[in-house]
Amino acid sequence: MAGITRFGVSIDSQLGKKFDEHIKRKGYSTRSEAIRDMIRDTLVEEQWEAGKQETVGTITIVYNHHTRELDHALTDMQHQSFHQIISALHVHLDAHNCLEVLVVKGKSHEIKKIADRLIGTKGVKHGKLTMTTTGKELE
Ligand code: NI
Repeated sequence: MAGITRFGVSIDSQLGKKFDEHIKRKGYSTRSEAIRDMIRDTLVEEQWEAGKQETVGTITIVYNHHTRELDHALTDMQHQSFHQIISALHVHLDAHNCLEVLVVKGKSHEIKKIADRLIGTKGVKHGKLTMTTTGKELE
């Protein structure tokens, strides 16, 4: 770490009160830690938008494995993107529904494309891409 920078923040009292309530709900011990997390989140978002660096994320999908050809189509797509999909977790939620969590690594535009294809596949009930970071650029 390259030292600590301190800065004062002036905000409207109502907004400050809401922020303190938010911090309490989230279990932060200090305002500083909450602000640090918000800054990191913004920087990660920026990394994803810039699309230049290698980044990581997870794609979560829920689907009914009885849906005709769906299992096969999803597996096929994952094999096509084997460079980016570095790990997969499959959970049989009940007799019909499956949950899959895929760990993805690569350029953000590639990852977004893979997520859109998987989530947009007919029969996928719900899907979500969680964008995170390799952590290299963040303290
Ligand atoms: Ni299953």
